Amino acid sequence: MWAYDLRFPSSWDHMHVHSTMCQARRVRVLTQPSFFGGADELRRAFTDRVGPDRAVRNERFIWDYWHIPRQYTYLRTVALNAIAPSLLGRFTEALQAWGLANLGTDRVTHPWLSYYVEGCHQALHSDVAQGMWSYVYSLTPWEDRAFTGGETLLASPLLLDYWSTFDPTRSTESGELVERIPALYDQLTVFDSRLPHGVAVVEGTRDPVKARVALHGWFHDPVPTMRGELDLEGTASVVEGLRAAGRRERERYGPILGTSTWRLHIEPDGSVSEVVAVVDNLVPGGPGAGDPTDVVEAERSLLADAVFERRDGPSELILPLEG
Ligand SMILES: [Fe+2]
Repeated sequence: MWAYDLRFPSSWDHMHVHSTMCQARRVRVLTQPSFFGGADELRRAFTDRVGPDRAVRNERFIWDYWHIPRQYTYLRTVALNAIAPSLLGRFTEALQAWGLANLGTDRVTHPWLSYYVEGCHQALHSDVAQGMWSYVYSLTPWEDRAFTGGETLLASPLLLDYWSTFDPTRSTESGELVERIPALYDQLTVFDSRLPHGVAVVEGTRDPVKARVALHGWFHDPVPTMRGELDLEGTASVVEGLRAAGRRERERYGPILGTSTWRLHIEPDGSVSEVVAVVDNLVPGGPGAGDPTDVVEAERSLLADAVFERRDGPSELILPLEG
């Protein structure tokens, strides 16, 4: 099992993931540097399908120039069109392991592969149907780039909560309103899909080999998952009871949006010995909303008191709680 220490390094609640002990918290964006050992192989698979080459090879005829005026302009393909299944399988397994450890879900969509040359961008939008978390894995030689733009854009907490923090004595500029996350080579960036996000317009190169390049997709919402001696079928009444109690608990705090995902360690005697907050994306959803942190603490107490059936060995339950 992977474990991480998720820390707040700056005024952004933007966490960098480090491989030490686990204590997850509220997340809007995570970045994982040096994510995948096969980055260079993936990069070669890309350049092999875009580099200057006068030979006609069928495998290069794969790119969809996707252009929705004033919203999306870039070139994309299903990653399997460009990357060998064995290599893409290794990448997907790495995503799944990372997702399970950090988000409580290994349900990941098949990656798309995209590149951005002169004029390519994504204007701000949200993805609420595709998956709870969006991921972007960069194959961009960022330090040597010959373009401007190309950062992942995310609406900042200040913009999202503009009026409640409004200061009539102080003007703001784009750097405070929109966070720009560099597409560092071999970095995985994962963010809350509900947030307005985009890609800064790329200017300065028409050469795909020098483009912003990324594998990207979504993690689906976590689902209850049991490992060990217990199974979900046999514990359905307890698990559903906890989820229902969680919803009732949540209602006490007014409109709170989002999901909190928990990992419970269950002892052979059926008691819960450890309750780990894997991740949550809770936000106040309107007037009368309480503090999401109070919701999380109430849920933690609820889960710590859960009682399961006795078994010969321990079990582990991943449990998402929604409103
Ligand atoms: Fe998106």
